[in-house]
Amino acid sequence: MKKNILMLAGPTAIPEREIKAMDRQIIFHRSEEFEEISKELGANLKKVFKTRQEVMVLTGSGTGSMEAAITNCFCAGDEVVAVELGVFSARMADMAEAFGLKVTRVKKPYGEVAAVEDVMPYVNENTKGVFVIHNESATGVTSDLKAFGEALKDTGALLVADTVSGIGALDFAMDDWHIDVAFASSQKALMGAPGISVICLSDKAWKASETSTLPKFYFDLRKARDFGLKGQHPWTPAIYAIIGLNESVKMIAEEGIDNVVARNTRLSEMVSEKLGSLGIRRFAKDPSYASKSVNTFFYDKSPAFVKRLREEYGIQIYNGQADLHDTTFRVGTMGYVAETDVAAFLYAAEKIITEFEQR
Ligand SMILES: Cc1ncc(COP(=O)(O)O)c(C=O)c1O
Repeated sequence: MKKNILMLAGPTAIPEREIKAMDRQIIFHRSEEFEEISKELGANLKKVFKTRQEVMVLTGSGTGSMEAAITNCFCAGDEVVAVELGVFSARMADMAEAFGLKVTRVKKPYGEVAAVEDVMPYVNENTKGVFVIHNESATGVTSDLKAFGEALKDTGALLVADTVSGIGALDFAMDDWHIDVAFASSQKALMGAPGISVICLSDKAWKASETSTLPKFYFDLRKARDFGLKGQHPWTPAIYAIIGLNESVKMIAEEGIDNVVARNTRLSEMVSEKLGSLGIRRFAKDPSYASKSVNTFFYDKSPAFVKRLREEYGIQIYNGQADLHDTTFRVGTMGYVAETDVAAFLYAAEKIITEFEQR
């Protein structure tokens, strides 16, 4: 007999309380009941983002919000600087190019981050935006967003942060860190069902949206904000996923976002300490920026290890992304992961690794 334990880089496990909330007849999205749900979700998301701004809830995964960030705040021909650390940060640079922006990429080898000092030499008075990934899920590294906010706050450039696998697991403070655009997906540390993304804009970004000329319609954020203020959505939203996300974000608000982040940090440290004692090292070049939500490790037997964990123990982690598939594995400690799940993973990992290394 085995029990399923999900410790993926996403989608993450859905709390039973959320499953129960979704187990009901559909509600009309223009009803008062759904308005209340939308308003409650919006209020709790503000606590998670640590912002006084509205947080818009879009139907569409994180890549949809990434597109909304670009099409609502920029114009074709705008010069932007994009940090590229792995496939997800590369996606944002690729997308910006697809929309006609002029992108200067600051690339780092896999497993490293770009520091403010690496990026600022490329920022000048023509720079309209700097794209920084909070947590690169492909390589397991975390950028110092706070430092980027400090460096960019008095410039004409917007700081655009992909925090898809950051918010809800790692420290994040939209307003205090001077972040201009931040977006995330439902299916990571926010513990929701896939299909929803959330996005927040600073005053500086809303101002840029007034002059943005890129085509936008489905993901028009001004429309989303105006409807959102009334607990409404411009189009038929993914109603069940929103009901679910409301429940999971309520759980985060009840526990307190700082306590949730502290719990995730503790679980991440449990994982790296135990795996370290078994000779398995983090992929991040420097432990100071190793991701604590998508914990990524070197292991030349990763595919076999991941398969044994799943087939023998029902524990789902996953291999590294793209080129890193065979040499790394990623363990999600974000979201609905308990200390006992981590203990079960480490118990099984020790057995498998010890057996592999004795061969
Ligand atoms: C850091 C990061 N950015 C963007 C995305 C894309 O999000 P989605 O798959 O929700 O479109 C992901 C998905 O894993 C991600 O990890």
